[in-house]
This record gives sequence, C-alpha cells and structure tokens, in this order.
Amino acid sequence: MSFEKNILCIGAGYVGGPTMAMIAYKCPQYRVTVVDIDPERIAQWNSDDLPIYEPGLEEIVKAARGKNLFFSTEIEAGIRESEIIFVSVNTPTKTFGAGAGMAADLQYWDKTARQIRKYSKSNKIIVEKSTLPVKTAQAMERILTSADNGIRFDVLSNPEFLAEGTAIKDLQDPDRVLIGSTQTPNGLKARDVLVEIYSNWIRRERIITSNIWSSELSKLVANAFLAQRISSINSISALCEKADADVEEVARAVGMDSRVGNKFLNASVGFGGSCFKKDILNLVYLCRHYDLKEVADYWEGVVRINDYQKERFILNMLNIMFNTLANKRICLFGFAFKSDTGDTRESPAIFVAKRLIEEKARVVITDPKALKNAMKDLESIAGEIAYVEDPYEASAGCSAIAVMTEWAIYADLDFKKIYRSMDKPAFIFDGRNILDHKKLFEIGFNVFPIGKPGLTHF
Ligand code: UDX
Ligand code: ADP
Repeated sequence: MSFEKNILCIGAGYVGGPTMAMIAYKCPQYRVTVVDIDPERIAQWNSDDLPIYEPGLEEIVKAARGKNLFFSTEIEAGIRESEIIFVSVNTPTKTFGAGAGMAADLQYWDKTARQIRKYSKSNKIIVEKSTLPVKTAQAMERILTSADNGIRFDVLSNPEFLAEGTAIKDLQDPDRVLIGSTQTPNGLKARDVLVEIYSNWIRRERIITSNIWSSELSKLVANAFLAQRISSINSISALCEKADADVEEVARAVGMDSRVGNKFLNASVGFGGSCFKKDILNLVYLCRHYDLKEVADYWEGVVRINDYQKERFILNMLNIMFNTLANKRICLFGFAFKSDTGDTRESPAIFVAKRLIEEKARVVITDPKALKNAMKDLESIAGEIAYVEDPYEASAGCSAIAVMTEWAIYADLDFKKIYRSMDKPAFIFDGRNILDHKKLFEIGFNVFPIGKPGLTHF
C-alpha cells in the first residue's frame, strides 16, 4: 500500500512516541516511523510493555502499530524514505563547559542534524520538536545546508505543549498547535504542509503560526509562566504557615478572579518534570547572553523559590520530628514528579529522599508506577532505602509518611489501619495537600500540610 506522506520521527521518548502515535492514529493515509538509537527502547515500543506509562497511549499504539506506525532503529533508511522529519531527541541541561547547569546540551541534536544531512537524498521538511534554545532552527538550517549537495531543507519549529499524564488528551484536543517558519515562500509552503497534517483532527483556528524565533521562545515562556504560578503560590504557602492562613483558601480567592484563573495554583513540595527547570534556565541563559541581567534574575527567582520550597519541606520535617531523623523510618508516598506518570525526572521526591538519607533516616519508597525509575535515580546513594509497591506494607513501622506525588489512590487508603501499623507519635507531611487532614488528625496522626497550620496532639 502506498501512503500519501512518509513521516519520520527521530527520538522515541516521552514527546516523540505519543505524538507520532497520535498522528498515525488520526491519519491512516500517512506512514509514520519512529526511530531511536536505543535498541532496547525500540524493542519496548514494539512490545506489549511500552517504555512509558501514559493513560490511553497503549490503546492508540496498538490500533496503529504495524499498519501505519512503525518503531525501528534503522535511522539511515528512515531518513532516506521520508519527506517530513520530526526531531525529538533529548536536550538536557549541560553538565560541562560553558553554560554548565544552565544552557541546553545540544550534542544529540547536533548529531541528528548531521545524520539527516548525510543520509538525505531528496528535499525534506525538518520539524523541531525538542525544547531548544531560541535560534536553534537557524543553526539546524545552517548545518543542513552546509553540504551544498543541492538538497533543500526547510526547518520548522513546532514546540510540544503536552503535559505528561494527560499527553493523549493534550494531543487529541490541544489548546493550540504552534508552527514557526521562515517567512520566505519556501518556508511558508513547508509550514502549510505541517498545518495540513494537524488539520486532520484539530480545528484550523487552534493552529497558529508565527516566525521561527517567536515559536521557539513561546515554548520557554509558556513553561516559565506556568512554573512562575507554582513558585508564586509556594512562596505564599511559607507565609501562610507562619501567619495561620490557609493557602488553599487564598488560592481559591485569588484564582476566582477571571483575570488570574484557577489553574496551576496548587501549593506543593515543589514542581518537577523534565521541562520547567530546564526551560527556565534556558531562558535565563538567553537573557544573560543578551546582557539582560534584571530579566535573567527575575526568572531565575522562579527556580530559586522551588529549591527553597523543597528544602523548607525537609527542614520542617526535621524541626517537627524533634530535630532528629536519624534511624527513623520515613515513608515517601509517591516518587513520580506528578500523578499518572512513571517519570521521575527532576521529581522533588529525589531531593527529599537524598536529604533524608543525609539526615540518616531510613527511607521507604512506594509508588504505583515509578519504582523502577526511583531505583535508578537513587542507585548511587549510600543509605538504607527500600522500595515497596504496597503502601500499607511500605508505611508499617514508619514514624512518618511524606506525600510526594498526588496519586488519587493515596486519598482513599485506610488510614486507621496505617496508623495502627506505624511507630508513635505518627506524622504525616502532605506535600500535595491531597489528604483529609482533619480526619487524619482525629485518627491520631500529627498532620502537616503545605501552607496551613499543622494539626498536632501535643
Ligand atoms: C509541563 C507543561 O505543562 C507542558 O505544557 C510542557 O509541554 C511540558 O512541561 P509537565 O512537566 O508534564 O508539563 O507537567 P505539569 O502538569 O506542567 O506539572 C509540572 C510540575 O508542577 C509537577 O511536578 C506538578 O506536580 C507541579 N504542579 C503543577 C504543582 O506543584 N502545582 C500545580 O498547581 C500544578
Ligand atoms: P523527551 O522527553 O524530550 O521526549 P526523552 O529523553 O524521553 O526526551 O527522549 C529522547 C530520545 O531521543 C531518547 O530515547 C534517545 O535515545 C533518543 N536519541 C537521542 N539522540 C538520538 C539520535 N542521534 N538518533 C536517534 N535517537 C536519539
């Protein structure tokens, strides 16, 4: 069977996998291939045990796989046979050299551009999907056209706005799709090809277009604004704890102002995830590069407050549990950076677990989807850490429970049973404010939410 278009995606990760699965599922007339350098990852995409957990993903992968959706390690053939190439390789924060700890590490991305140049035999549209610093599309175009082999590459920026845990819903019904292109006739033609792909299931007015740099910058700014809301409410949570106010009541009152809106105002132990910190630091690096010190400092403050919130959480635990955590068993409820995902990248739980070990506590970790990743994150940490799937078993014999992830299952547990099995006095630190604090207090727990006065029996 011949297909209308051959689409390739390089990078079978959290972005590439679900995005391509959705395109294939919605557009049976296109052939979609996803390639990766990691053969194990590709084998998982081809198995019944997908490499990432995402509600609804398995169904759409199973519906399209083998028909018009293929996962492969054949990067060279993939490049040769496609007209459109999405690039969604990883772009972590640099850990070495200039810009270490701030700028994006572009080595995977650079290598991909060179591979595309080497194996291409015909004109291609290249779609930049990874989060990248502003002006990367231009650099990509420069690498691609430097071979002077008569092949045309049109580079588009198409940032991904999906959130993990709701990726399928976000892909199916996005608030907007953004496509940045050069404003030349060829650039606009390439842009229209991508608009046509998305138009198969997304209303035309939700597909917005811009110049390339606005598009690249919008991704960083959208994440910076979202993270800023969380750091803003988290900073107020510190004040509420001192001032006997309730941060949820404050957030509710503030969020009902329609100019502010009520989303992303849940105070927490801190935000995590692969994007927020990385994108803000990218933005900060960009501002410093242009000598905009005040602007850089302003956005850096969002990350600073997040670090402060995580440290504050640990110091509160220490202070409340009589200034020593040594030898106490502490159970972390959840390790993923948010619910409905097994992803633990930048999860506040990593920080909290490490700090607890520094305080010589004995740590027990439970999570319905993230235990494997938790083990990898903490493998180099010397200390007593146990990984237990069942939350009842995990919390038995512990002095405290710290809620790290807002998994819905935690709110429905039998806390009377849990209380009976714990060491006394028993403490709960609710880093996500998802539990019924009054009820827990009545059971006998000493309860410490975020941004509200603690409920104690002494
Ligand atoms: C984010 C953006 O939402 C998405 O548009 C972008 O494409 C990628 O980055 P993601 O990191 O998957 O998505 O998760 P998100 O839902 O934004 O949550 C990020 C972190 O903030 C999580 O740790 C979450 O628990 C925390 N959070 C979120 C809060 O602490 N309070 C809130 O009110 C909302
Ligand atoms: P994201 O969250 O941005 O999707 P991931 O780390 O989940 O990031 O996925 C990126 C994927 O890109 C990884 O599976 C990695 O193996 C893959 N990758 C990195 N460099 C290359 C490359 N040169 N060719 C193909 N795949 C690559």
